[in-house]
Amino acid sequence: MSYNNILSEFENGITTITINRPKKLNALNKETISELHDALDAANNDADTKVIVLTGSGEKAFVAGADISEFADFSVEEGGNLAAKGQELLFDFTENLSTPVIAAVNGFALGGGLELAMSCHFRVASSNAKMGLPETSLGVIPGYGGTQRLPQLIGKGRAMEMVMTAGMIDAQQALNYGLVNHVVEQAELLPLCYKIASKIMRNSSVAISQAINAINANYKDGINGYDIEIEAFGNCFGTEDFKEGTTAFLEKRKADFPGK
Ligand code: COA
Repeated sequence: MSYNNILSEFENGITTITINRPKKLNALNKETISELHDALDAANNDADTKVIVLTGSGEKAFVAGADISEFADFSVEEGGNLAAKGQELLFDFTENLSTPVIAAVNGFALGGGLELAMSCHFRVASSNAKMGLPETSLGVIPGYGGTQRLPQLIGKGRAMEMVMTAGMIDAQQALNYGLVNHVVEQAELLPLCYKIASKIMRNSSVAISQAINAINANYKDGINGYDIEIEAFGNCFGTEDFKEGTTAFLEKRKADFPGK
């Protein structure tokens, strides 16, 4: 598939999706959101893709936010629709993919950019990265899940401060807050993501997708995560991967999982 605003490349079990609007600091316009949806969906459905890495092109930005020029004159209704459609197409969609998605935060991750990184299953940042939810400085609030996912990741008080001040934190502080899992020099960012991906790929994709679902259940209203875990745990016993994993252990060899 060819895209106007993103690149999608597959190598060694990993699909790397790069948001590619560097002149606009990779801001998320409508078309980019739609293309990201399509590329993520394709990678998730691709049996050979075991891990997805999401990053931004250039050295300056992961994503500097939703494209402000697209919504500056929106009405109340249009604003609500923008958030609803975006959450459905990209943010909730990413969080609920069964294939692991790592955000490689290579620079500014602001507004919708940080919300996109937070929708990924975890984040790795380069040392120049800066993160924030500056929406209140524009007279609006985060609308792509930021008011929910930021407190989940860093706690309510810190999230309140970040949203109220509209300020940015640097990569080191993001690491201290637990917003990102690792910080490395920019040249090391993708290599580290690929190294982590290769560790993930040694394990059962089927079990990992069940684990993503069970962990996410903890954050869904009206759903008992323990019940989801029990069901998912039981389901694993019926899989080829479980047979292979346990047999390999007992035979003292490395497991060779059948795949997604
Ligand atoms: N939406 C639309 N365009 C954006 C954008 C966004 N969120 N973020 C950056 N851009 C565009 C700029 O308008 C500029 O375009 P131009 O060259 O056609 O004028 C280009 O990207 C480069 O940005 P610029 O502001 O010149 O870079 P900078 O290094 O001076 O500042 C930032 C970098 C990230 C601090 C600044 O771009 C910024 O504050 N962006 C908006 C962040 C934001 O509020 N995001 C939340 C949106 S809800």
